[in-house]
Amino acid sequence: MFRTHTNGELNIQNLDQNVTLSGWVQTIRDKGFMMWIDLRDRYGITQLVFDADRSSAELLENAHKLGREFVIQIEGKVIERVSKNPKIPTGEIEILVEKLTILNQSEVPPFTIEDQTDGGEELRMKYRYLDIRRNPVKDKLIFRHKMAQKVRNYLSAQDFIEVETPVLIKSTPEGARDFVVPSRMNPGQFYALPQSPQTFKQLLMIGGMDRYFQIVKCFRDEDLRADRQPEFTQIDCEMAFVEQEDVLQIFEGMTATLLKGIAGKEFGKFPRMTFADAMQKYGNDKPDIRFGMEFVEVNELVKGKDFKIFDDADLIVGINVEGCAEYTRKQIDELIDWVKRPQIGANGMIWIKFQNDGTVTSSVNKFYNEEDLKKITEKFGAKAGDLIFLMSGNENKVRAQLSALRMELGNRLGLRNPKEFAPLWVIDFPLLEWDEETNRYHAMHHPFTSPKPEDVHLLKTDPGKARANAYDLILNGNEIGGGSVRIFDKDLQAKMFNLLGFTKEDAEAQFGFLMNAFQYGAPPHAGLALGFDRLVAILDGNEVIRDYIAFPKNNSGRDVMIDAPSPIADEQLTELALKVELKD
Ligand code: AMO
Repeated sequence: MFRTHTNGELNIQNLDQNVTLSGWVQTIRDKGFMMWIDLRDRYGITQLVFDADRSSAELLENAHKLGREFVIQIEGKVIERVSKNPKIPTGEIEILVEKLTILNQSEVPPFTIEDQTDGGEELRMKYRYLDIRRNPVKDKLIFRHKMAQKVRNYLSAQDFIEVETPVLIKSTPEGARDFVVPSRMNPGQFYALPQSPQTFKQLLMIGGMDRYFQIVKCFRDEDLRADRQPEFTQIDCEMAFVEQEDVLQIFEGMTATLLKGIAGKEFGKFPRMTFADAMQKYGNDKPDIRFGMEFVEVNELVKGKDFKIFDDADLIVGINVEGCAEYTRKQIDELIDWVKRPQIGANGMIWIKFQNDGTVTSSVNKFYNEEDLKKITEKFGAKAGDLIFLMSGNENKVRAQLSALRMELGNRLGLRNPKEFAPLWVIDFPLLEWDEETNRYHAMHHPFTSPKPEDVHLLKTDPGKARANAYDLILNGNEIGGGSVRIFDKDLQAKMFNLLGFTKEDAEAQFGFLMNAFQYGAPPHAGLALGFDRLVAILDGNEVIRDYIAFPKNNSGRDVMIDAPSPIADEQLTELALKVELKD
């Protein structure tokens, strides 16, 4: 037996017991005649002691051969520590070692295996297995496991069945690029890795499974960000004989259960906001509603005063930053520079200060007198001590720019407390979105999303105005999930493909299997998928999902540990019919 106990387990109750422990050598403190070792495993740390008075010379000599991260097994007796460490559960005891076995040696690790390590990101990724030995990484993986377990329990209790869907499939239309896999047995042909199990879960509904879920890997070849990985995990779900309301209730219940476990309080009914309202109030379809700073539009108050920039703009909109009127010129200029960075792309920004003495001043005093400015502050509901920023330009662009500023100020002013949770449903998304580049409509969610029944007539007259029965679940300003009521009528689905610019033949070639299935009694169905990595990260007070994935990819989509992607041998290329013969 390698161990009788783990290294997080023993305490003063175990005094005088003979125990066997195994683990890694975390630290060695060597006083010559006495030596202490912190022995670590997944469960914690237990202090070992070797003592010239009480241990044999041979044992002490062996102990002196140890180095950091050696794997050892010891036998010994639990004794009370002289100097106790109240910070760890095993801090009152230590083990007087009687027998030491070195199970494996270790090279000196390339970075310290401590909570605060000296290893940089790239190095830790290269040696991810060592990084996983560190508490901050290990704890995140354990947290992830616990959340997955709660999700499975919740959904199973609600009669959902976990069904695995294939990974070698045909392209799924989620809007990103596919990763493709060449087929040796079908030269020149490719599988695609699923961007989601969307079509399969709909087929499962036709198959009568009724309530499906899967915690499933999805693959998307898209540019990476803190909240995006090329392979990520979804809690994917679908339900038959349901309406939007049923889906929202089930997944609100699931999310509230997870949140309660963490925040220790009930979350009640999640607020709902239409897409149109979200865009108008926050310039964003995933608003962080933990703080206010709602957008206020002031076109009618600022136009016609000879300030050309505003006169020429489609929209003049601003936010009130409460209590910040005392910002210095330097602080404001720095924010103006911030919005002018290419990532945000604003041309500039106007400020209005409602000063503590009750007077109002601005960066556009030349065009607006105090009375004009007061009217603006009134529209914002600003009070003495507040600072208003106004931005102007093209409607969509200016909303996006102001939204970025709002989030930045939320961060800077500490209004985005990661321990506070604000879930929100955003509903009534547009069905389609116009793509300037390709000059055609794209499905805003995906092509299987049903238009709102009352908007179906718009598909003929003004498709861009049609709304969908589509919904997103937002948590703290992050999109953690999305879904929709599906089209289950073959003719409406065909109409949809047509709107999206598919020829009949294209639609048949790509989605014939689904259209066919719709002929055999497709039930009304709806579903959603939550981004599991995102959900876990946010629940744990974080927004970087990489930390919650055991072996993530870096920003260039590489696994630097296994060095993938990498070239393959010529023979393999030939076998896969991928070798291009170069002719001279
Ligand atoms: P959608 O494309 O909105 O919907 O994806 C669902 C959720 O998955 C998460 N997500 C990601 N997480 C990490 N890295 C990525 N690259 C990534 N891409 C998406 C997001 C997102 O909200 N089939 C539909 C769902 C449905 O209609 O039922 C779908 O995949 O949190």
